[in-house]
Amino acid sequence: MADRVPIAHIAATVGLSRRFVYKWVRRFLAYGLAGLADTPGRGQRRGTRPQAALHNGMEGQEQDLRAVDVIYYVAASLDGSIAPADGTLSWLAPFESSGDDYGYTAFYQSIDAVLLGRHTFEHAATCAQWPYPNKPCWVFSQRRLHVSQPDVVVTARSPRAVVAELAARGYRRAWLVGGGQLAGAFRAQGLITEYIITVTPVILGTGIPLFGTLAPAEPLHLVASQVYPNGLVQLHYRRTHEA
Ligand SMILES: NC(=O)c1ccc[n+]([C@@H]2O[C@H](COP(=O)([O-])OP(=O)(O)OC[C@H]3O[C@@H](n4cnc5c(N)ncnc54)[C@H](OP(=O)(O)O)[C@@H]3O)[C@@H](O)[C@H]2O)c1
Repeated sequence: MADRVPIAHIAATVGLSRRFVYKWVRRFLAYGLAGLADTPGRGQRRGTRPQAALHNGMEGQEQDLRAVDVIYYVAASLDGSIAPADGTLSWLAPFESSGDDYGYTAFYQSIDAVLLGRHTFEHAATCAQWPYPNKPCWVFSQRRLHVSQPDVVVTARSPRAVVAELAARGYRRAWLVGGGQLAGAFRAQGLITEYIITVTPVILGTGIPLFGTLAPAEPLHLVASQVYPNGLVQLHYRRTHEA
């Protein structure tokens, strides 16, 4: 649906395929008029894109963004919160003692960079050990933050600008750790390509939501799912319509 008009109806009226109309409506909803000015770069596949396209005006920047998989990998309560209202993570402690890492080690090895909102960074910084070793981290904040960890950059730039920088550096997979505010901003800008949500058998009732900002509906397809004996269910989704 686009503004309550079925995509199929728009497509039939203008004589174009539903998939084509869907893609451009989605780009408009995500990026406004700038999204319509971009050229989708049909046929350019991830990993085969020539490096010369990297800094090539708006088209080049759009291709940069598409070169990076941004994966929102997070644990959530059944009612869609990533933490209780006080922001603490002790609600996850019962699941950390199971001896299973729920695929975390393999996932961490697969990513090139880590993206954190300021609140999430402040929580991580209180850990006895820095939770994101040996990976470059970008912390999103408009403030001057005290940072003692290596490989951490504090940035006041937009999510789009940072993803373009990741692409220019040759990074291909970024872990969007969260929290909900930053994930909401990434989703509103159409930047999240995958969601790996580990649903816990807990209803928090109140707390910090998975997404702190409203954004247009987004169809996904299920890549994998895994049920763990202690009641966790890990859901791996990917965007259905790659722009
Ligand atoms: N369950 C899990 O797996 C999981 C994962 C991650 C986080 N968490 C929890 O989530 C909580 C934090 O989430 P949160 O939603 O409160 O905060 P957050 O997303 O971590 O941080 C929000 C802050 O990021 C900065 N920011 C910079 N650019 C932004 C942009 N474009 N959009 C939004 N924010 C931007 C702002 O800081 P400035 O005001 O400094 O500009 C903003 O106040 C913590 O309790 C953390 O432990 C849970």
